[in-house]
Amino acid sequence: MSTPKRYTITAALPYTNGPIHIGHLAGVYVPADIYSRFMRITGNDVAYICGSDEHGAAIPMRAKKEGVSPQVIIDKYHKIIKQSFADFGISFDNYSRTSSAIHHETASEFFKKMYEDGKFIEEVTEQLYDDEAKQFLADRFVTGTCPKCAHEEAYGDQCEKCGSSLNATDLINPISTISGAVPTLKQTKHWFLPLDQYEDFMKEWVIEGHKKDWKPNVYGQVKSWVDEGLRPRAVTRDLDWGIPVPVDGAEGKVLYVWFDAPVGYISSTKEWAAREGKDWEPYWKDKDTKLVHFIGKDNIVFHCIIFPSMLKAEGSYILPENVPANEFLNLEGNKLSTSKNWAVWLHEYLEEFPGKQDVLRYALTANAPESKDNDFTWKDFQARNNNELVAIFGNFINRVIVLTNKYYNGIVPTPSALSDVDTQTLTELRAYPAVIASSIERYRFREASQELMNVARLGNKYLADEEPWKLIKTDEERTRTVMYVALQIASTLATLAEPFLPFTSAKLTTMLNHTPIAWNAIATEETLLAAGHQIEKAQLLFDKVEDADVQKQLDKLEATKKANEIANKTVEPQKETATFDDFTKLDLRVGTIIEAEKMPKAKKLLVLKVDTGINVRTIVSGIAEHFSPEEILGKKVTVLVNLAPRKLRGVESEGMILMTETPDGSLVFVNPDDATVTSGATIN
Ligand code: 2FM
Ligand code: ZN
Repeated sequence: MSTPKRYTITAALPYTNGPIHIGHLAGVYVPADIYSRFMRITGNDVAYICGSDEHGAAIPMRAKKEGVSPQVIIDKYHKIIKQSFADFGISFDNYSRTSSAIHHETASEFFKKMYEDGKFIEEVTEQLYDDEAKQFLADRFVTGTCPKCAHEEAYGDQCEKCGSSLNATDLINPISTISGAVPTLKQTKHWFLPLDQYEDFMKEWVIEGHKKDWKPNVYGQVKSWVDEGLRPRAVTRDLDWGIPVPVDGAEGKVLYVWFDAPVGYISSTKEWAAREGKDWEPYWKDKDTKLVHFIGKDNIVFHCIIFPSMLKAEGSYILPENVPANEFLNLEGNKLSTSKNWAVWLHEYLEEFPGKQDVLRYALTANAPESKDNDFTWKDFQARNNNELVAIFGNFINRVIVLTNKYYNGIVPTPSALSDVDTQTLTELRAYPAVIASSIERYRFREASQELMNVARLGNKYLADEEPWKLIKTDEERTRTVMYVALQIASTLATLAEPFLPFTSAKLTTMLNHTPIAWNAIATEETLLAAGHQIEKAQLLFDKVEDADVQKQLDKLEATKKANEIANKTVEPQKETATFDDFTKLDLRVGTIIEAEKMPKAKKLLVLKVDTGINVRTIVSGIAEHFSPEEILGKKVTVLVNLAPRKLRGVESEGMILMTETPDGSLVFVNPDDATVTSGATIN
């Protein structure tokens, strides 16, 4: 294993316009946490940095919708998000927020330095403007057709279908997301980062320099952007939510959120260093520091092109060594979506699966969208828990701890001579830290999690082959050796599980009553858990997830789907105006269905006898596919009684019964739902 290094590890700053869900955890925060914990446990100097991104365009939008100020929104979600991270053991060294004073100051300084060094182009250009909302439109404030792939719902900064990075004026048929208006063009001044001047830098640094070590999905995206040619990009906006542009003549303008947010990594590091009495600068400026950005794939352009160009332009910063972006996680076959509530929210998960944080961490890691989009299913979650965590990991630990307590009152027995199997097992065991380390160092967390499970498998197989529970009856001495070997495996698991399953590792450490052996020492130390050491009683590490638990989650998603269908149902446009006279011409009455039968040879029609109060009359109604004759007998309905009679299949129909449709397409009567109304009552 290599010599200790300094690591600055960043995880994408989440927007505070909603809580966080499993997609965030799987794509960014769990892999970054495994990496950070691993780097710490193997003796490196780590700053694992994050915070809330509080200037996103969706924030004032959400505030408007809820009728509150943006501050209320960011305070609410900053608190919820921060708590979720803490609950899931995400071990940030600092979790800051971009509304903090230190961030405003850091981002302003960053801009000013670049401004003073002449790194921006100042230009008056025509930008999209919403005359109704009196606002310029960029980024999420405008949608339209993507010029690259013709996707009709591309945003002013990016097309989520083809991943292209866009300027708002590139959109075909743009529409304001604030008012629905078609924008006009209006002149405004902005500061642009001339990315075209950074093409050579990008070619040398990424295209040549990171061909081998960056993930193909990340490298490929960057290469295709650079190949297409980079264009200047505005880093200021005409908005009232954000960090004011800190130069003269920029009133009413703020820094583009994607200019300020990545600088948030720096301000969060400063905040941490000040608290810890450290110097922040080596974490960002010492060329021996390894800077690693964990992000989702939609953030690649910002972290691999724009922010590095900013760092380069500023001049005193290091560049990221790697940006191991993940692809997306879907949920039960559909794209995760905050606005559609298609998600497993972390705070809700914890209410429903209390104490099962590690299970989710594990399921998300084992199925992480590392090289392609992946699907989270509750069935897979259940299988990961029941077949791996319970049946392999938990089962092994439980047998070792219970038997040690039962046979030796919890004291690690003294082994005799090791058999070939023992030696082989221990040799295999000692190889795992390097195997797992190699996977983690290459950002292959799925693979690493499976190697971890293989350690527990090794233990299970050893116990199953040696059968100490049988051996104890015939050979106490050999049993002691077998249990000693098994305890060495258990102790190793406590160390190796820490980055992946921190809560489980802590419990296991308590059960073993010892300070876990150092990761790097497992390969070489003679003894991992010494004979004579007293362990504690067994605690349950994992328990089964039942079919009913899974079904409950699936039902919940089904209900969300229904609710979305209802919400998305398009409302018919209003018809042209009817005068009062038009309305009074309609004679609407309460009627009662007193007879009903199917119209022969007509799938859709029922022939009804309706008591309208005026008379009993025949009405033919197209409801046969929705109601059986029996179920509507005696029903009170609304009848248009003066509709001109007409013949349907030879039967004269004298009126019409009013119906409406539910979102899923079934018909319901518009019925006077009151027992006291009687047939013939007029409706007006
Ligand atoms: O996509 C997002 O959720 C952004 N809030 C990520 C920002 S990462 C960074 F640059 F701060
Ligand atoms: Zn597109």
